[in-house]
Amino acid sequence: MSVKRVGVVGSGIMGSGIAEVAAKAGYEVVLRSRGQATADAMVAGLEKSLAKQVEKAKIEEAERDACLSRVRAVTDLGELAECDLVIESIVEDLPTKKHLFTELDRVCGDATILATNTSTLPVIEMAMETGRPDRICGVHFFNPAPMMALVEVVRAITTSDETIATAKGFAETCDKNAVLVKDQAGFIVNALLFPYLNNAVRLYDAGVATREDIDAAMQGGCNFPMGPLALLDLVGLDTSLSILDALYAEFRDPNYAAVPALRRMVTAGQLGRKSGMGFYDYAKK
Ligand SMILES: NC(=O)c1ccc[n+]([C@@H]2O[C@H](COP(=O)([O-])OP(=O)(O)OC[C@H]3O[C@@H](n4cnc5c(N)ncnc54)[C@H](O)[C@@H]3O)[C@@H](O)[C@H]2O)c1
Repeated sequence: MSVKRVGVVGSGIMGSGIAEVAAKAGYEVVLRSRGQATADAMVAGLEKSLAKQVEKAKIEEAERDACLSRVRAVTDLGELAECDLVIESIVEDLPTKKHLFTELDRVCGDATILATNTSTLPVIEMAMETGRPDRICGVHFFNPAPMMALVEVVRAITTSDETIATAKGFAETCDKNAVLVKDQAGFIVNALLFPYLNNAVRLYDAGVATREDIDAAMQGGCNFPMGPLALLDLVGLDTSLSILDALYAEFRDPNYAAVPALRRMVTAGQLGRKSGMGFYDYAKK
């Protein structure tokens, strides 16, 4: 199936990034946010990001203008009706995502493929909210989406070969390396990454080393581009906690049981970069 128009639902860190990636790849993008203010903020954020790329001579002004002209920010879900592919990237909460899939199934054309950018939640649960479980899959981008090379394409047990081929083709035209994975919590990357991140919080909470030294150790000792605590702040501590909870719910493996300190930080509203405070204080920067 050929994809021309892509819908993106959710105006957070990932929704904005995916919209930018798809628009740069030449797709028409309909970006749906619940409020006009956030919809406008997303377009402003995209303008800023593209302006920086022009400044750094990564793209030409004409490419920036063409890219912006392909993006339309809307608040009405019904505006997604004619999209060939809709990618939802709203909060990592299963009941909320299931409700959205019911609504998307109602408003979108029969042929539309509905994809989720979930990090860990069961794709089949969302698929079964719709009358088109063969046209549902996961398209899991990484953060920041414009920079990260990977997309995990997730096959639920109901997903058709055609849907997988379309999703994989879409990811590849966005210049991403697409890997195929079955619908199992955490897919490949987060199933392997999150025990490590969780254990970094455990070390920090136990006072084994400072946050700076934990991060410096993993950067210098393993050649990782960022340390685990800085990475948790980038991902968002609320999203990270939801990921660990979903992994634990599926596998009951103690490595996935969120360290209590992480839960307390989320309760306190310390969500990382997006709230200005996490393991590091971003308000001071
Ligand atoms: N942060 C990451 O590093 C990362 C990486 C890959 C995938 N993801 C996945 O992407 C999705 C979004 O994560 P994010 O980091 O962009 O989160 P975020 O907190 O930045 O944004 C979440 C968005 O969901 C919206 N939202 C909240 N409740 C809603 C509702 N009831 N209906 C509709 N929209 C609602 C919010 O307004 C916000 O725009 C999640 O499924 C997450 O697991 C996140």
